[in-house]
Amino acid sequence: MFRTHVAGVGSYLPEKILTNYDLEKMVDTSHDWIVQRTGIEKRHVVADDEGCSDLCVKAAQRALVDAKMTIDQIDLILVATVSPDYKMPATACLVQAKLGAKNIMAFDLNAACSGFIYGLFVADQFIKTGAYKHILVIGAENLTRLLNYKDRDTCILFGDGAGAFVVSQAPDTEKNYLMTAHAHAEGAYAELLWAKGGGTRHPFTQQVLDEGGHFMQMRGKEIFKNATRTMAACCREALEATHIAPEQLDWIVPHQANMRITEAVAGQFNFPMEKIVSTVHETGNTSAASIPIAFDMAYKDGRIKRGQLILLTAFGAGLTSGSAILRF
Ligand code: UT7
Repeated sequence: MFRTHVAGVGSYLPEKILTNYDLEKMVDTSHDWIVQRTGIEKRHVVADDEGCSDLCVKAAQRALVDAKMTIDQIDLILVATVSPDYKMPATACLVQAKLGAKNIMAFDLNAACSGFIYGLFVADQFIKTGAYKHILVIGAENLTRLLNYKDRDTCILFGDGAGAFVVSQAPDTEKNYLMTAHAHAEGAYAELLWAKGGGTRHPFTQQVLDEGGHFMQMRGKEIFKNATRTMAACCREALEATHIAPEQLDWIVPHQANMRITEAVAGQFNFPMEKIVSTVHETGNTSAASIPIAFDMAYKDGRIKRGQLILLTAFGAGLTSGSAILRF
């Protein structure tokens, strides 16, 4: 068996910024309310001519540079997203073409905000068994196009962006590797967070459009409770699987949904907030992109260093959840 080594990391945030003050002019909300309840101050928004695949390409190119690799070395492109360019084909196929990759496997994975951890878990299987040597795992979202800017419950929370890891095959003696990954889903709670119109069950009709059924809808309080419960359970699972104590971790990089969720999860392990990577104030919730974006920002500003022990955890629509521990 081989080990999965994170060879390179990259991310991309679109230039345009939407602040809480901008949102005050669009819905009945305030900067202070948003900061107090979520920690979010601003979020990035795609340009009119930008699609999810464009975000992926920029993040992937940066991850390849970091890995000192070229696209022709990649064997598989995996894109975790709930906001693809099209219903079909997969955004990963568009990314393959835009990056100029050879005739390799490319597919999308929909696990909402847990998508990046699902993606790492899947990539790990291909690498451990020797099927592939180098995989691009990308988390990318163009979520602002799925938001109803008349619904203050959701439109204040989400933003756009992408993050990518190049993960590579390493010998089973490699010290810096993905030590464990876990993923779950509780489909019975799917209706707590969904975009129910525009699929095959409720195809696009004038009524779906008029009622805004194609936009994201969320029962915030229930999601909040489930998020804290589930992310803490996933952290515990990863720590137990590796026999690592919380105090041995250098960083936790959680899904960036809400500062209060992060604080509640950290509190369950008495984990100091200084060792939690938080970018939610700057990015809002970027769903599948949030973990690799946060990871990359902390890596590039020197907080995260090679050789450190890092726990990732996520929760999202589905209800999906997951965790991973890696020595970077
Ligand atoms: O990635 C996973 C997906 N999402 C999440 O993890 C999000 C999880 N949920 C949350 O983060 C929180 O539930 C929210 C931030 C969405 C809401 O915070 P909350 O503390 O649960 O607020 P609430 O829904 O209990 O609302 C409190 C009050 C209500 O007014 P009343 O009934 O007390 O008069 C709301 O109508 O705040 C009101 N409210 C707002 N006020 C200003 C709700 N949204 C807003 C808003 N601005 N945007």
